[in-house]
Amino acid sequence: MHRTHHCAQLTKAELGATVSLAGWVDSVRDHGGIIFIDLRDRQGVTQVKFDSGLRASASHLKDESVIGITGRVVARPGEMVNKHIPTGEIEIEATELVVHNVSETPPFPLTDAGGDKVNEDLRLTYRYLDLRRPKMRRNLQVRHRATKSVRDYFDAQAFIEVETPTLFKSTPEGAREYLVPSRIHPGQFYALSQSPQQFKQILMVAGVERYFQIARCFRDEDLRADRQMEFTQIDVEASFIDREGIYALFEGMLKKVWKDVLNHDLPTPFPRLAYQDAMDRYGVDKPDTRFGLELADFSALFKASGFKVFASTVAAGGAVKAFNAKGLADITQGEIGALEEVAKSLGAKGLAFIKVEGGEWKSPIVKFFTEAEKAELTRRLQLVDGDLVFFAAAPWERACAILGRVRLEAAQLLVKRGRLTIRADQWNFLWVVDFPLMSYDEERGGYAATHHPFTAPVPEDAALLDSNPKAVRGQHYDVVLNGMELGGGSIRIHQPALQKKVFEDVLKIPADVVESRFGYMLKAFTYGAPPHGGIAFGLDRMVALLCGTTSIRDVIAFPKTQKAQDLMAQSPTPVTARQLKELHIQTVVPTQ
Ligand code: AMO
Ligand code: AMP
Repeated sequence: MHRTHHCAQLTKAELGATVSLAGWVDSVRDHGGIIFIDLRDRQGVTQVKFDSGLRASASHLKDESVIGITGRVVARPGEMVNKHIPTGEIEIEATELVVHNVSETPPFPLTDAGGDKVNEDLRLTYRYLDLRRPKMRRNLQVRHRATKSVRDYFDAQAFIEVETPTLFKSTPEGAREYLVPSRIHPGQFYALSQSPQQFKQILMVAGVERYFQIARCFRDEDLRADRQMEFTQIDVEASFIDREGIYALFEGMLKKVWKDVLNHDLPTPFPRLAYQDAMDRYGVDKPDTRFGLELADFSALFKASGFKVFASTVAAGGAVKAFNAKGLADITQGEIGALEEVAKSLGAKGLAFIKVEGGEWKSPIVKFFTEAEKAELTRRLQLVDGDLVFFAAAPWERACAILGRVRLEAAQLLVKRGRLTIRADQWNFLWVVDFPLMSYDEERGGYAATHHPFTAPVPEDAALLDSNPKAVRGQHYDVVLNGMELGGGSIRIHQPALQKKVFEDVLKIPADVVESRFGYMLKAFTYGAPPHGGIAFGLDRMVALLCGTTSIRDVIAFPKTQKAQDLMAQSPTPVTARQLKELHIQTVVPTQ
């Protein structure tokens, strides 16, 4: 038998028992000729003492070697008791030792601190070692618990899990897709599913009524801390449900997951914020509401400003927005410069600011302000000595977005100075609602669906679809937690005529293209499609926040790097000419 117990199990209750343990050598210590080994497995560590004939072999064991031992459970002497681990009161006096495998010296220490210090690329190259670290092991456990909790929840709510195809057809209006060549149909391609969106709606037509799936999705996007090319959704769709029904269903799921994983009671219902208010107050549709520094609109105040940038922006229909980065007047030139760069990357022409210091306003533009303007700024932004105000003058949405980013950066500067605390375990969930159904794409010169083209309009706005699509609100909702978009979904269009109208008359997709891409769906809807709606949650993002990290790479066993590579198995790779030929593919590799 390899083992009778795991390495976090034995206590004084087993004193005198003969036991077998197996695992990895966490450390070897020589105390005056007696060898102590901390033996580690998935659960924890147990101290093993070698003071008989096994001493010599034990002393040569290298860390991370795999061994099995048999021995007797004895009490540790009082001064050697370790109160921090469950097995801290006992140790095993080894009578047998089996060395299953010796280990090379790992390229980095497999402790939490040791791994955190090295380059992530090294951890990803040796991911099997990285995953031995306690933190990473815990992250995998949390992911498992959260996923199980989700499955149990939906099962109890009479949802059934249905798998849908990974190889789907190309529908290029979403994110960029991964294409898969067909060997059997030369020149034709599948696309890896970006989400099971169309299948889950078809399952509603099929009468499934309550569907869920822990679904793998694929998107060829630029990778970031919260974005992978391959990620997992908690995907859900239900028939005969409205927005309120979805909110209650998902608040219930999150309540259960937070209870099961963290033993934390989430208060429900979650607050709701209209898209317009989210943008106006936080400059983003996924606000972090754990701190204030809210934006305010001063367009009316600066309509006739002496500062021409402000006055002309308002005259052109834009907005002048500002916020008080409270207590940040001691910002350095370098920090201001960095914030300006951030603002410019979002299309800002500049980033005007005012420092309030020693009762004085310090700013290159203060000379343009009247006393009345200063008084109103002071009143509405509650300015006191030590404050710093940032301004953005631009079209409304851009002005919001610029200050939204500057707000987040300013918050980090305040955190760094110890003037603001943002706690990773403060769970500020909220629903963002009342998104516009369509947004106007200036570059392309046409409307695009804000969420996706299957989202239903708010019924009372539907009449405006022809005359003023921009004014139509969609039945779309997002769940946001601490500045991260966790999930999004909508009530769908279930009438084929309305769906066709959205495709052809609003999105201006030619009728033949609609037919070839979505014809099957429109046809399915003519056979009795129930009213339905759903949502998809980023499982990776949810687990990351549960684990107290913002990088989803920390909660995915084998993630890709920012450059879309698997450093361990080494992909992507070239393939043979023969493979390509079989797939009827020729490649043209750009020369640098
Ligand atoms: P959406 O595109 O908003 O909606 O995706 C839903 C959620 O999936 C997560 N997510 C990602 N996570 C990691 N890496 C990525 N590249 C990535 N892209 C998205 C986010 C996001 O909130 N079918 C619709 C949902 C619906 O209408 O029911 C959909 O996929 O957490
Ligand atoms: P200028 O008049 O170009 O010297 O700008 C004066 C100050 O206003 C500088 O700090 C600029 O960064 C800032 N500024 C210029 N344009 C804008 C704008 N559209 N929004 C906010 N600040 C701006």
